[in-house]
Amino acid sequence: TETLTFLGIESSCDDTAAAVVRLGADGRGQILASVVAGQTALHADFGGVVPEIAARAHAERLDDCVLQALAQAGLSLSALDGVAVTAGPGLIGGVMAGVMCAKGIAVGAGLPLVGVNHLAGHALTPRLTDDLGYPYLMLLVSGGHCQFLGVDGPEQFRRLGGTIDDAPGEAFDKVAKMLALPQPGGPQVEACAAEGDATRFALPRPLLDRPGCDMSFSGLKTAVLRLRDDLMAGTDALHAQDRADLCAGFQAAVAEVLAEKSRRALAMLPDATGLAVAGGAAANRTIRAALEQVAAKAGTRFVAPPLALCTDNAAMIAWAGIERFGTGARDGMDLAARPRWPL
Ligand code: KG4
Ligand code: ZN
Repeated sequence: TETLTFLGIESSCDDTAAAVVRLGADGRGQILASVVAGQTALHADFGGVVPEIAARAHAERLDDCVLQALAQAGLSLSALDGVAVTAGPGLIGGVMAGVMCAKGIAVGAGLPLVGVNHLAGHALTPRLTDDLGYPYLMLLVSGGHCQFLGVDGPEQFRRLGGTIDDAPGEAFDKVAKMLALPQPGGPQVEACAAEGDATRFALPRPLLDRPGCDMSFSGLKTAVLRLRDDLMAGTDALHAQDRADLCAGFQAAVAEVLAEKSRRALAMLPDATGLAVAGGAAANRTIRAALEQVAAKAGTRFVAPPLALCTDNAAMIAWAGIERFGTGARDGMDLAARPRWPL
């Protein structure tokens, strides 16, 4: 059997990324290079990602990220078998910058082009790192997404449930904001929660009483806001211990909801080879521990890619491109950037 070496390009949110991934003759993936240029500092003054600033930064940095990735891999374009690029969903200006960059390389070097759904990139990552067989259960928990997917193949996803309002990462970011912690809020809330008592405040577990695996995190966020306002009444700053206890309580509630809904989703997929998790919020250690326990109780594998592959990166796009290419998928110069693209 042959090997396949793909360049991957990602620019759908606030990370400009390029990577080189090889599918070996043994059927395993290997990351030869992975470059991620974050934009946190560029958006810091605005309390969130500014699409126009993000698009411009992607356009300015993509070429350099690609060159860095090729240098890291020690390869020239002629050593590649294809170019994979995130074609959506995401902030359209950034996605367009990535798609144009990939088209230029594909035409210039005479390489096949494969467009990749960003969510499929996250969802297929466990097969790059852990050789997980189809079908498996994927819990995708990022800043913009939260869903359970039955993954049956590189392009076959069954949506089993998801959030009806905020994504968990988004809720972490909003809670960080209301507690005057910097963005992105997930890691900040997690660090703060480490000093807190998760049992002090009775926070809601939304939708736990309803069947199925849909979730809701918006009410939980509002509950944190009310507690904060009560704690701050008559003062102008939140006590450090109060803040830590709020973070710990919030994090525990999110973890418990995700765990219980994962248990139900696993029950809906009796032939699953494992429970896998991906997306930025999968970096959270409390969430990981809760999910690991669910998998153990169900007697199935728990697969959580390394943190750097849970957040946005281009190795997952290169890998998803290789998997799609393997099914015969090819895209032409009419490949469109899509702001919305459900799996
Ligand atoms: O997957 P990702 O890098 O970007 C997309 O949304 O596609 O996820 C970013 C999200 C942010 O909302 C961030 O706050 C959250 O993931 N996040 C975390 C942690 N690290 C990142 N949430 C909770 N705990 C963390 N340790
Ligand atoms: Zn993502």
